[in-house]
Amino acid sequence: MTPQYDLIAAQYGEVDRLLQSYRENVEIPSILRALGPVDGASVLDLGCGTGPFTRLLRREGAADVLGVDASGPMIELAHLEEGEEPLGVRYEVRDIADLPVLGAFDLVTAAAVLHYADSFDTLTRMCRGAYANLAPGGRLLAVVGNPGLEPEVPQPNGFILHRPAVPRDGDPCTISIPTDPPSTLAVHFWTRAAYERALTACGFTDITWEPLHGLPAATEPVNLIVTARR
Ligand SMILES: C[S@@+](CC[C@H](N)C(=O)[O-])C[C@H]1O[C@@H](n2cnc3c(N)ncnc32)[C@H](O)[C@@H]1O
Repeated sequence: MTPQYDLIAAQYGEVDRLLQSYRENVEIPSILRALGPVDGASVLDLGCGTGPFTRLLRREGAADVLGVDASGPMIELAHLEEGEEPLGVRYEVRDIADLPVLGAFDLVTAAAVLHYADSFDTLTRMCRGAYANLAPGGRLLAVVGNPGLEPEVPQPNGFILHRPAVPRDGDPCTISIPTDPPSTLAVHFWTRAAYERALTACGFTDITWEPLHGLPAATEPVNLIVTARR
């Protein structure tokens, strides 16, 4: 499903280094604030990549954390990190658009992954996988691209978004990452309304939106946090 990440895995150390300051000052505090305490929670992290959020949530006190990602090489890197600093996080290679029930989790997280859905049907299947893996009352927290983000302008995290001037739901976009050599990710444009339609179609309720915090006031946030409840 995401062979682009099998290729980018080799450069991921550099991507992580580029993102470090943005992650520490913007992403992580915003996500922890939106989540509230995770002590004792069971967590499923969709599109976990090399596992930055699985490890974070485990360190924050989550009792049981499972990360899933479609890219074998990304999961290998996550396993390597787990080997270097064992936290008891589990990882599996899975396509989140075709996710079986792996448990009844208190929390499902999905950071920067739902925009890989290449059709509304795929987006809905990803949301359905999240819903099916939540215990009743459990919460989904997803970090998604801000549909209002200005294209062709370097963002605070160094990424540049290329998209049609007047994008429609599902339109292909690319994100340039200033690695050496530069990397490009192919993603898709989704409006808030599309995310809400997909979430509601799966049974999610109490949908909330907030920007990532910690950027200068006039800056349009790169990402938004959407939460929803089963
Ligand atoms: C931008 S990275 C985000 C990784 C991690 N969540 C983070 O925030 O650092 C996106 C990840 O989503 C994964 N991915 C994309 N489509 C997927 C799918 N259909 N199923 C599972 N993982 C997917 C990619 O392999 C990649 O590791």
